[in-house]
Amino acid sequence: VTKPIIALDGPAGAGKSTVSRRLARELGYVYLDTGAMYRAITWLVMENNINVEDEESIASLVANVQLELLPSDNLQIPVTVKINGQDITKEIRTPRVTNQVSKVAAQSAVREKMVALQQEYGAKGGIVAEGRDIGTNVFPHAQLKIFLTATPQARAKRRLIDLQNQGESNIDLDTLIKEIEERDYLDSTRAIAPLKKAEDAIELITDNLTIDQVIEKIKSYLILV
Ligand code: C5P
Repeated sequence: VTKPIIALDGPAGAGKSTVSRRLARELGYVYLDTGAMYRAITWLVMENNINVEDEESIASLVANVQLELLPSDNLQIPVTVKINGQDITKEIRTPRVTNQVSKVAAQSAVREKMVALQQEYGAKGGIVAEGRDIGTNVFPHAQLKIFLTATPQARAKRRLIDLQNQGESNIDLDTLIKEIEERDYLDSTRAIAPLKKAEDAIELITDNLTIDQVIEKIKSYLILV
């Protein structure tokens, strides 16, 4: 029997990363951070001074890209990321990339290539994949689909702590809330594979839940699949 695929989707800052990563470790599954892939492409686009809306140039850029995701030992860092051999683990989490990623992730050439890679990762099962369209589009037959959400305030507070841990000190909570709302708006209104709860996903609102509680809940659903 193949091991299940667990799809974890939701807006920015709902706790997806921490939860999926710990869940994968506890279950001995592969952890796949699909947001890191879109971030890496966005970094490469900006590094090459390509306009984030120049779909044609971006399409040829992604056609030959070499992307590697490697497990990270550092608890603060979801995954080690290399693009065309260069380690850009830190660069992909900067506000510069974060604030442009939705525009790049909306493009069909980018999504086609990333989704194909993601499906390869999951081909054997035993994977916890997190993103925006995992349950709706990447793994529509996933055995367990979770949609994690929280209020923008709770999500912005989590992002603030993440950024502070990365050494960013000059951040204002209201600006973060606005940025998160804008990114969610772009992600959920785009034409291709928008952020959306799959019909058969279980929704978990994480405002008043600890990470441990979220993980325990997901494990209890897993027993039923
Ligand atoms: O999860 P994370 O915040 O790292 O995702 C960064 C961005 O990548 C999202 O805001 C979204 O634009 C894009 N993304 C996506 N589809 C996914 C995962 C991420 O479009 N499956």
